[in-house]
Amino acid sequence: MKSPDDCILVIFGASGDLTKRKLVPALFDLCCQSLLPDRFAILGVSRTELSDDAFRRHMVESVEQYSENKPVDSAKLQEFAKQLHYEALDTSSAEQYEQLNARLSALAAKYGTLGNFLYYLATPPSLYEVIAANLGHSGLSRQGNGSGWTRIIVEKPFGYDLQSARELNGSLLQAFREDQIYRIDHYLGKETVQNVLVFRFANGIFEPLWNRNYIHHVEVTSAEHIGVEGRGGYYDRAGVIRDMVQNHLLQVVGLIAMEPPSSFDANAIRNEALKVFQALRPFTAQECEESVVRGQYMASTIRGEKVRGYREEEDVASDSRTETYAALKFHIDNWRWGGVPFFVRAGKRLPTRVTEVVIHFKPTPHRLFGPGADMYHGDNELVIRIQPDEGILLRFGLKLPGTGFEVKDVGMDFHYSELSDTYVPSAYERLLLDCMLGDATLYARGDVVEACWAFVDPILNAYEGNPNLKLYGYPAGTWGPKEADALPREYGEQWRYPCKNLATDGEYCEL
Ligand code: BG6
Repeated sequence: MKSPDDCILVIFGASGDLTKRKLVPALFDLCCQSLLPDRFAILGVSRTELSDDAFRRHMVESVEQYSENKPVDSAKLQEFAKQLHYEALDTSSAEQYEQLNARLSALAAKYGTLGNFLYYLATPPSLYEVIAANLGHSGLSRQGNGSGWTRIIVEKPFGYDLQSARELNGSLLQAFREDQIYRIDHYLGKETVQNVLVFRFANGIFEPLWNRNYIHHVEVTSAEHIGVEGRGGYYDRAGVIRDMVQNHLLQVVGLIAMEPPSSFDANAIRNEALKVFQALRPFTAQECEESVVRGQYMASTIRGEKVRGYREEEDVASDSRTETYAALKFHIDNWRWGGVPFFVRAGKRLPTRVTEVVIHFKPTPHRLFGPGADMYHGDNELVIRIQPDEGILLRFGLKLPGTGFEVKDVGMDFHYSELSDTYVPSAYERLLLDCMLGDATLYARGDVVEACWAFVDPILNAYEGNPNLKLYGYPAGTWGPKEADALPREYGEQWRYPCKNLATDGEYCEL
């Protein structure tokens, strides 16, 4: 495997949650597998005054808590911590970038990392544009005078709508070239999401069936059992369509629906994903009403414990109309997918945590076995489980042993965990490493992000412009509003429910 170039990673927002929960633990996990560059240092930047030592102590505690490599090797951790440094800085003040410049030059000289710098924006999104502009004005965004590279990773949310995403892209492009910008979508860093590409394009048997002739409909579900977990302030402005659908779930749809790329190259793959998003049929105002069902979780009791409703969460308005659940039906208007409906749903406080794609194949043209209640319909399903218990399940009919021809629906089930005991890197490990290697395949390109916003914008506008559009309350611990069942029912189908509702009380209502 190629090893990444020596470099300095600068994390803006170093005192925040993302740095402590995800980034530094992922970097330590890379260190444990000897995947970090030989010469490497991390500079944490944020407004809080901290010494290098105090920053190291905080990060050591975070790694102990959040590393995937348990038990944590403390000698290794102490060694890793020596590479951590800290600079207190008001990132919105242009003058202070002189100070940052001086510190980076000193670190680059100390570690011998040449001119390679990677900037990670782990700050609130309101600071992205000013940080990028300040990096530009101070000369820090420039490729290291021919002797190195400069890259920037931008966390989601990438814009609030199409217009703000365009503005953000525009601002980033004033300071960086597109090939220096890495927009993170951690779903693309998940092993099983990447496996969709291998599954589709490394096997001869599935691709011939992967089209409107054989596929009846496609279902994508991302269920979470957690609520907004202290992120009410952010979430109440976002809602699940911005938080999950616009980015993570559409990226999954992109991989499921794309044409085979001509090579395994970042731009070839992203070009194909872009074509899918450009082919998404735009929602009319009427379709926003008919093909989108939105819900918000209400108080309930789960396993004997009271769970509060969304409106009772911290920093959430008591009359909030933000959706914590959304189910959508849409079409991809191209040759491959003409007439095949896609159903996508995502929600918080559902009965379990599961992300999966279900490809529902068309039934046989003629039903041989039956009639009778147990008549087999031959609607084969392929379930791609993204998390947890990552794997692939193929459902088909087999004859039950005995007289007659009773057909039983059986599953051929592959669990990723059976493949090998190879360590599976977390999404952040994979993505940080790829960026250091200069591989943008699993990062979202600017035009791709804008195409996804162009698709969801009409939905968001319809709801924001019309408070009379329906929002349904569902008890926490259930599969969301029952009205969502109407979407697949129109095609004689139903959602796949991987488990039962958990709530023992609570109300379904219209809010
Ligand atoms: C984040 C969202 O991007 O993804 C969260 O902001 C959500 O609200 C999370 O919980 C889900 O990620 P995962 O990896 O747990 O499926």
